[in-house]
Amino acid sequence: MKSIASALVCAAVATGVALASRPEGQCAAVADAWCNAQRPGAPSPINCDSSVAEGPLVTLFDSDAQGGPPQWRCYSRETLNPSRTKYVSGTGYCTRNSSLTDELRNCAAGITTNPTPVFMHGETASNTNTTYPCIRIPSIVRLPESDELLAFAECRRWVGDGCAPVGGAPDDADSTLGRTDWRDVCTKTSTDGGRTWGALVVIANCTMQPTPVVIPPEAGTSQPPTIVLHGNRCPASTVRPSGNVQIVSRDGGKTWSQPEDLLRFLGPDVDGADVGPGVGLRLDSDHPVAPGRLLFIGHRGAYVHDFVWYSDDDAATWKVSDTSTFAGMDEAQLVQVPAHAAAALGAPAGAVMANMRSDHLNKSCDCRAFAISTDGGASFSDVRWDSALISPVCQATIISGASPSGNGSALYFANPASKSQRAQGTVRASFNGAASWPEARLIASSAFAYSCLAPPSAHSPEPSLGLLWETDGGSFQCLGPSCRVVFSSIPTALLAGSAAGSPGPLAA
Ligand SMILES: *[C@@H]1O[C@H](CO)[C@@H](O)[C@H](O)[C@H]1NC(C)=O
Ligand SMILES: *[C@@H]1O[C@H](CO)[C@@H](O)[C@H](O)[C@H]1NC(C)=O
Ligand SMILES: *[C@@H]1O[C@H](CO)[C@@H](O)[C@H](O)[C@H]1NC(C)=O
Ligand SMILES: *[C@@H]1O[C@H](CO)[C@@H](O)[C@H](O)[C@H]1NC(C)=O
Ligand SMILES: *[C@@H]1O[C@H](CO)[C@@H](O)[C@H](O)[C@H]1NC(C)=O
Repeated sequence: MKSIASALVCAAVATGVALASRPEGQCAAVADAWCNAQRPGAPSPINCDSSVAEGPLVTLFDSDAQGGPPQWRCYSRETLNPSRTKYVSGTGYCTRNSSLTDELRNCAAGITTNPTPVFMHGETASNTNTTYPCIRIPSIVRLPESDELLAFAECRRWVGDGCAPVGGAPDDADSTLGRTDWRDVCTKTSTDGGRTWGALVVIANCTMQPTPVVIPPEAGTSQPPTIVLHGNRCPASTVRPSGNVQIVSRDGGKTWSQPEDLLRFLGPDVDGADVGPGVGLRLDSDHPVAPGRLLFIGHRGAYVHDFVWYSDDDAATWKVSDTSTFAGMDEAQLVQVPAHAAAALGAPAGAVMANMRSDHLNKSCDCRAFAISTDGGASFSDVRWDSALISPVCQATIISGASPSGNGSALYFANPASKSQRAQGTVRASFNGAASWPEARLIASSAFAYSCLAPPSAHSPEPSLGLLWETDGGSFQCLGPSCRVVFSSIPTALLAGSAAGSPGPLAA
């Protein structure tokens, strides 16, 4: 083991800079906000231990009480010199090198991540007063005219499965409340592009796998969009455990119908397929085969079979697709391949792609599987593998949205870009219908599990993707990569390739 003195010398030589440093420019305030982020009513900052003293923490790249090499840390003021530029003594700090490195890299690139989570274990629903020890499985849509963001999740009355609150109330105070198999669908709304979010509201009791799709209003009308959300009854349901249901909002997400059973459309072989998670697909209004068709994909059993169902009458009735090629597939998403890009896939305009969790089936790639439909999602090709989209055992998200160069639509994909870990959360762009993924941006080097992308706003001068993603609990008494759900805004210009500089950093 090296002596402390020689370790310090090595660090100084290796970095070639003064040992203590503050983040640069406006990113200092962003890092400080991360260090000090607080959940309302909670005793200590979310990202830093309760052992740290009261008062705003200061972000510095500096040493610790053992004289160790400098790392990014949140320091309480009494540990610093009077000008707060240097660590002096004491243990009132927490070392958050990897998370703060992510924050600072994202900040420098113009990516913002709210320091306050959208969903976090221990939150209470405003309309039912139920407190949930875990909230997982993020989903997000952007409404077409208002640009409102609607986030959905499973509010779970039990713990585990990537979210394991330990010790200290209030986080585990309610684990006695519920049955281990009980989940409710919850939502929150943001009217300011994801900077702030409204109250937690339960919209479907004993329901899971929230997977919405938006039907835009008829052009020229001022009606709010309709949102059709498919899910499954929770396993504890006394009505029909795991059965597929839909709820509908005709007022832009303010009120929702009661769950409607889909058994009579799906039949006993497909009913019970866990939908999504993520979002459903609405084909373009000028789609050559099935304009305005709504589609959902779901999996029955773990890696057993995927099914697709669709509606040509705005969710009044549903038909089941031919997915006989989807044996062994799991959680999946559907996307319409942008018209100009379909040819690169050897497919006609309007092709639909299924992108599926399947990695254990093909150990030579540990990647996402995909299949193409040329009949609007009524039937699909054989499954192939996309070796560019490496994946651990995890869900992923894929959408189409305005291309960064304004030359039509691009495909955007996000997942943990690792073959083995729920980490290295990365967003990618493809301009040729997923034939290649030339653009990638690392968002989170540490915990990143389930995620969902929202397309860029059509009205913003600086269009940004929304990304709702699961990460760990910070210091907040919860173990696992899915203790909280956070929102990031990612300018599409960062994924424009030569149009806006070099591809973003992507860890190997
Ligand atoms: C801390 O983060 C910096 C980048 O910000 C990195 O260069 C360094 O290796 C990290 N140190 C440790 C001990 O992980
Ligand atoms: C929630 O609890 C508060 C305080 O106990 C009470 O005032 C309110 O009516 C309750 N709301 C519901 C929906 O039960
Ligand atoms: C949820 O369903 C359970 C069982 O059917 C019922 O006891 C409970 O009151 C319901 N809660 C709400 C908020 O509807
Ligand atoms: C596994 O994926 C690779 C692409 O990385 C592909 O070449 C290979 O054919 C696939 N294996 C099977 C058994 O399909
Ligand atoms: C659209 O722009 C992207 C770069 O943002 C470029 O790679 C792609 O080739 C363009 N597509 C068309 C059809 O011009």
